[in-house]
Amino acid sequence: MRPPVGSLVVRDIGLLVTNRPELGQGQLGVMRDVDVVIENGTVAWIGSTGTSQATDEVLEAAGRCVVPGFVDSHTHLVFAGDRVEEFTARMAGRRYDAGGIFATVAATRSASLIELTDVATRLKREAEAQGTTTLETKSGYGLTVSDESRCLEVAEAISEEVTFLGAHVVAPEFRGKEQEYVALVTGPMLDACAPKARWCDVFCERGAFGLDAAREILHAGLAHGLGLRVHANQLSRGPGVQLAVEMGAASADHCTHLDAADVDALAGSDTVATLLPGAEFCTRSPYPDARRLLEAGISVALATDCNPGTSYTTSMPFVIALAVREMNMTPDEALFAATAGGARALRRDDIGALAPGFRGDLVVLDAPTAAHLAYRPGVDLVAAVVRAGRLLGQQNSR
Ligand code: NIG
Ligand code: FE
Repeated sequence: MRPPVGSLVVRDIGLLVTNRPELGQGQLGVMRDVDVVIENGTVAWIGSTGTSQATDEVLEAAGRCVVPGFVDSHTHLVFAGDRVEEFTARMAGRRYDAGGIFATVAATRSASLIELTDVATRLKREAEAQGTTTLETKSGYGLTVSDESRCLEVAEAISEEVTFLGAHVVAPEFRGKEQEYVALVTGPMLDACAPKARWCDVFCERGAFGLDAAREILHAGLAHGLGLRVHANQLSRGPGVQLAVEMGAASADHCTHLDAADVDALAGSDTVATLLPGAEFCTRSPYPDARRLLEAGISVALATDCNPGTSYTTSMPFVIALAVREMNMTPDEALFAATAGGARALRRDDIGALAPGFRGDLVVLDAPTAAHLAYRPGVDLVAAVVRAGRLLGQQNSR
């Protein structure tokens, strides 16, 4: 058992992003020259530097910028093997299609539980070192009852937000028998997997699941008590986004190919549009139109989509830099989407902001402003990461 968390003050924060407009300036609620006190894992107090009460531990921000911990609301960390040859071929001009998933399914099925846990743990630590304090992760490379079930056991060991994605693609042994595979997913697979997950996801796309199958799977997920998320409109303009809205999904993920009806549907809903520009980067595809979504008043989240096929990165700072440079998001919009947006996509109200009552998750940046995350791309600006009041890492201390 870990000892109980005591109190920590993060002292001399030059610029604090709270994500609470009522606490400071602008959408990010920026405060200057403050200390943050975290007690028993929760933010207890924010006030002028040097005026906090004594705490068990002190972390010196030394005038630097502090932001809420990143919320990576979409990853696939439970897999074995890699697909570097596929990436290399793509960079030489080959197109991405969902078929590459089968290579990872074969490698995942033949890996031991220990091997799968090692990969997932390594990637989770990699994400934490880059400022991620909450990450969602999912199954989807097992595609049998027992393989999906053990992938979820690995996911549960590394993540508080676990998603069942038995409907990633039709399992290879069910080729040409999609309806039989859907019956497996909606029956025995969900029975075995639902107790290990909070969410049910489906890849609604040509080459994966069409509208009717995807709807049936989401209904079954709901009936098993799971919240919903959808891989939607990634490779083509399909029905995924509108299905996500129809079913009340927390998030429609990718949203790369949208028409006006998709944007209207999202605008009138509580479904977050989760954008995954690492996937467009790694598949050399056109980026989603973030401005169109933001201007329609839609909540946008940014996440890595870390997976061995389309986006083998755990770096939320990289995703923020892509969103700013390639999708015309402002640095403030991108940071908000990578923190508060991710929290909303996971329907969480205890993370994604730094204000009294929120979990004490923060990143000390080795930079004076959060815009430096995009302004200094590819540079490790994460000086320290605190999750629930515990210091996770301290790389670039001055
Ligand atoms: O989110 N779109 C479906 N799933 C992943 C890709 C999976 C793979 O290629 O292994 C994604 O991009
Ligand atoms: Fe994905």
